[in-house]
Amino acid sequence: MAEEYAIYIDDLVKSFGSFTAVNGVNLKIKKGEIFGLLGPNGAGKSTIISILLGLLPPTSGKVVVNGIDVQKDPSGARTHIGVVTQETVVEPELTAEQNLMIFARLYHIPKAEMQKSIEFALELSDLVQFRKAYAGTFSGGMKRRLETAKSLMHAPEIILLDEPTTGLDVQNRTQIWNLLRDINKKQNVTILMTTQYLEEADQLCDRIGIIDHGKMIALGTPDELRKSIGLNSVIEVTVDKEELQRAAAAFRKAGLEPTILNNRVTSPGGSNATKKIEGLLNIMSTSKINVRNISMHEPTIDDVFLKLTGSEVRDTSGEYKGKGVIMGRGR
Ligand SMILES: Nc1ncnc2c1ncn2[C@@H]1O[C@H](COP(=O)(O)OP(=O)(O)OP(=O)(O)O)[C@@H](O)[C@H]1O
Ligand SMILES: [Mg+2]
Repeated sequence: MAEEYAIYIDDLVKSFGSFTAVNGVNLKIKKGEIFGLLGPNGAGKSTIISILLGLLPPTSGKVVVNGIDVQKDPSGARTHIGVVTQETVVEPELTAEQNLMIFARLYHIPKAEMQKSIEFALELSDLVQFRKAYAGTFSGGMKRRLETAKSLMHAPEIILLDEPTTGLDVQNRTQIWNLLRDINKKQNVTILMTTQYLEEADQLCDRIGIIDHGKMIALGTPDELRKSIGLNSVIEVTVDKEELQRAAAAFRKAGLEPTILNNRVTSPGGSNATKKIEGLLNIMSTSKINVRNISMHEPTIDDVFLKLTGSEVRDTSGEYKGKGVIMGRGR
């Protein structure tokens, strides 16, 4: 049963003292699948990755990688896994080529194959022309590409990537996506990646699991999630606090499902969102509601969490993490 899957996680719990970071997660990832684990800071994503790598013991539950029980045989399981950790780990004092060479030695890639696998990694990461350049001079995106290619040098069947594109610009993000699509298609590598970007999970992954406070709160294909959450587009109206209830009533009259948050009323647009927004504007104008701002946008991770949990993604540091569809808030 567990053997059929690339990754099999059964009722996984991980506690640190009295704090439970992973709280009963079940997940079965098929061979050849691209799976995205989407969640805000502190959701438990990296903890799950560490457990899959056998670097952290679970408190309870079971993880099986390519048919190998990770707790029983962590190093055996690891031979099937390539990993890109959340922190960048390229050696700045070494060239791209030297970075790859060290890794090849670490993974006991035979001398005869070493050069070939270095060439493979340089090509995959599109860094052939930078082979002699010091990794310390690379942009964030180049470093991430180098790390991703490096993690594939020992030809693993599974690759785990912990937020491979956080902080990268759109162009670099797209390059990483293409690289991942490429190895998934050509070499049937199973991919489990964590991300804070809804757009990334949507574009790249066959299935997405949304994790919050150590619990999987939604799981499905991007389409299934979009349908179940009802998020085609999001309509958002800002009004004065005393007008919130009347604005929510106007939403309902326009056929929308309002959620109130601070001084905003939001609703999934659903089908015919543009028509509904017109109707909403008319109703609010007739009711003389003083609208401060109205907008319609593609759903962000904030919208998903608002819909699923009724609360905003935790906001603790105000750190802005990138551009576009993100949470933009750190722990
Ligand atoms: N060794 C540890 N000891 C105590 N608490 C820990 C430890 N490792 C993780 N935690 C806590 O467990 C929770 C989950 O952490 P984890 O790193 O898995 O989150 P994450 O989803 O990867 O977040 P991020 O997006 O910030 O990387 C956090 O509240 C974190 O502080
Ligand atoms: Mg993490």
